[in-house]
Amino acid sequence: MTSPSNSPGFGNIRPDRGGQAEAFDAIGGRYDEVFPRKEGQVAATEWLAGSLRPGARVLDLGCGTGLPTARRLADAGFEVVGVDLSRTMVDLARANVPAARFHQLDMADLYPGGSRDLGRFDAVTAFFTLIMLPRAEIPLALEAVGRLLVPEGLFALSMVEADVDDFAIPFIGTTVRVSGYLRDELCEVVEGAGFEIVGESFTSYAPASADTKPEEQIFLRCRRKWER
Ligand SMILES: C[S@@+](CC[C@H](N)C(=O)[O-])C[C@H]1O[C@@H](n2cnc3c(N)ncnc32)[C@H](O)[C@@H]1O
Repeated sequence: MTSPSNSPGFGNIRPDRGGQAEAFDAIGGRYDEVFPRKEGQVAATEWLAGSLRPGARVLDLGCGTGLPTARRLADAGFEVVGVDLSRTMVDLARANVPAARFHQLDMADLYPGGSRDLGRFDAVTAFFTLIMLPRAEIPLALEAVGRLLVPEGLFALSMVEADVDDFAIPFIGTTVRVSGYLRDELCEVVEGAGFEIVGESFTSYAPASADTKPEEQIFLRCRRKWER
């Protein structure tokens, strides 16, 4: 991550990303084989597609392979920008969704005071991306998402329900560090960052790989509050 920002809190973050990009570089296209069905992402993306004006700008944070989210949003005629820490994921996303723009970036580069300014967005998606951050950073990342959104902009978030912080787990033949919350605590953190939760759904998901455990997935549909 780049430099400190003018906002208290953001300047104190010095995240350790060691191994996270490398893990997703190694996983590459196998990610979509292990998670072939992404019903939660599909349903949340349909909510956005049905709620946004034509041509709206949408940011897909931690876009992975671009499937299905960036592709569906681009096919719907939105201006889609995807960001991912992993070079391999960005390459796959570019090949899968030529109509969108993708950047290899740490999402922290988009925080206030960070090195990149991609402008404001009508909506942001972060499907299983904030789980890759240490817990101490997640409220700041959510606040940063709020600042990337126009007032009353939409935010579709998914997390795995788990009471863990920066915890190493086996994942598709490699190891990643993940964080999470139990449901009520997640909602508190999201609301505390300035979002109204307008919908939520919970799914049990069994990945198609023996070394990747079944998980409880939480999908939140949020709106940035006008006053921040
Ligand atoms: C579990 S995958 C989810 C991919 C996709 N959103 C989906 O729903 O299939 C998490 C993604 O977040 C990316 N990622 C991890 N840490 C990141 C960071 N600090 N900034 C941007 N992307 C990150 C990973 O490279 C990976 O592609």
